[in-house]
Formats: sequence, C-alpha cells, structure tokens
Amino acid sequence: MNPEKVILQLRDISKRFGGLQALDNVDLSVIHGKIHGIIGPNGAGKTTLFNVITGLVKPDRGEIRFEGKTLPYSAPHRLVPLGICRTFQNIRVFKEMTVEDNVLIGQHVHTPTPVLSILAGRKHAREWERKAREVAAHALQMMGLESKSHELAKNLPYGQQKLVEFARALAAQPKVVLLDEPAAGLNPAEKSNLLKIMATLREKGYTIIFIEHDMKLVMNICDTISVLDHGKKIAEGEPKNVRNHPDVIKAYLGKGGALRA
Ligand SMILES: Nc1ncnc2c1ncn2[C@@H]1O[C@H](COP(=O)(O)OP(=O)(O)O)[C@@H](O)[C@H]1O
Ligand SMILES: [Mg+2]
Repeated sequence: MNPEKVILQLRDISKRFGGLQALDNVDLSVIHGKIHGIIGPNGAGKTTLFNVITGLVKPDRGEIRFEGKTLPYSAPHRLVPLGICRTFQNIRVFKEMTVEDNVLIGQHVHTPTPVLSILAGRKHAREWERKAREVAAHALQMMGLESKSHELAKNLPYGQQKLVEFARALAAQPKVVLLDEPAAGLNPAEKSNLLKIMATLREKGYTIIFIEHDMKLVMNICDTISVLDHGKKIAEGEPKNVRNHPDVIKAYLGKGGALRA
C-alpha cells in the first residue's frame, strides 16, 4: 500500500499583528486527496492561516512546502498556477458580470492572452476562449449551475453566488482548494449540496482545506481536523477524536460557542 502523500506542509508558521499573535508555531500536514478541516473559535487564526498559505500575508517565521518543495513567499497570482486556489470568507463575485464570465476570470493565470481581451472578443483569443469556456462550463457543471451561466451573478441567490466563487477557484485547475467558510449563510439544502460537491471533488483526487463553523458539517465530511485557538494548534485528528478532545471543548465553551455534532 502506498503511504499517504503529504501535498502541503506547514512548519512552525507564526504571524503577529501588532500585539496579537495570530498564528503561533503552527505545523500542518495536508494529505493529498483528502478533506482537511480547520476549526476554531472566531479570531483563532483560521483565515490568517489561509492568507499565509495563499501568499496574502507573509509569515514572520516558518516554512511552507508544496509537493515536497519549499514554497517561496509569493503573491497569490503566482501561487495559483502552481495549483493552490481559494475562496474568501466574504464573497467576491462580480455582480454585474455573468456567472460564466465570473468563472472565466479564474483561468486568466493559464492564458497567454489577457482575459479582458478575451472578454472583449478579440480574434486571436478565439481558440483559447473556446477551451476556457469548456473548462468554465465543466466547473459550473460540478456546481450544478450550468443552466445559470448566462445570468448576471447578482440575480442568483446568495448560496449560488458562493458556488460561483467555488467554480472560479476550480476553473484555475488547482490541486489544493482552500474554502473559507463556504457554508456560512447557506440553508440546509444548500449545505448538503455543498457536501456532495466536496465529496465528488475528493473522489476526483482534489485536496480540500475547509474552514467551517458548523460542527455537524465538519464532522460529516472531513478526513482530518485541525483545531486552532488563539493562533495555536490545540488538537488534530479524526473527527470523532477531535470532538471529544477536552481542549477543544474548553476552547469552544470558553467563547460561549456550542460544540454540536
Ligand atoms: N491584517 C490584519 N491586521 C491586524 N490584525 C489582523 C489581521 N488579520 C487578522 N487579524 C487578527 O488576527 C486574529 C485572527 O484573525 P482571523 O485569522 O481572521 O481569525 P478566524 O478566521 O479564525 O476568525 C484576529 O484577532 C484578527 O483581528
Ligand atoms: Mg475567518
């Protein structure tokens, strides 16, 4: 049997904002083809961890390795072509653009032609455009949104707008997708749809890192969960072990949060 392959590894990652230690010596090993949950109370450092992995925030200390190689600190647009893509906690969809164009923007990293000239319909971009539209259509199909591709993003319900952002990340053909609270604000049917999409992507070999507050969701889908509190990793393991970990229960109760699953 093949040993599990670590695709993304963080060692001793620390980040301070003024007097606040947002990340404190965090180690993380993400296994290829798995869904890795990141949980923790508000302010625990979860989004900062994503910002560090995706190059939005430079860590004060530590190393990130991706597919066995040290990842130099680099702007997000340089990391996307390597195969690291994300969605944001606060939705970032261009509301006046169509769903399809929102997703096409996720692919500009792979094209020699500026995406704006493609959107403007320049001739020499036609072949690339055909391929790009195919990839976008496929990403939208994964989200069950193929019938919405020509609608303006603003006309979709909030839950579907979040899926447009997810489709945009997929259209960049990533190996690792980081989802920052993708289920926040979704209704139960939309949440279960999201889980199905994530499970399908895992079957296809994608690696997913998933920040989420809804414990039931996290416990249902994740292979491994890491728990952050005050910037420190306080627990890690399979869902059932993490759920009963005394430090995890304490961290959530201390913030008045409930730990339900
Ligand atoms: N760019 C920043 N400048 C200053 N403080 C920040 C910045 N980003 C995050 N923080 C602080 O770092 C802590 C962790 O934030 P964050 O990573 O967003 O937490 P989480 O996503 O777990 O809720 C919070 O106290 C937050 O206010
Ligand atoms: Mg956050």
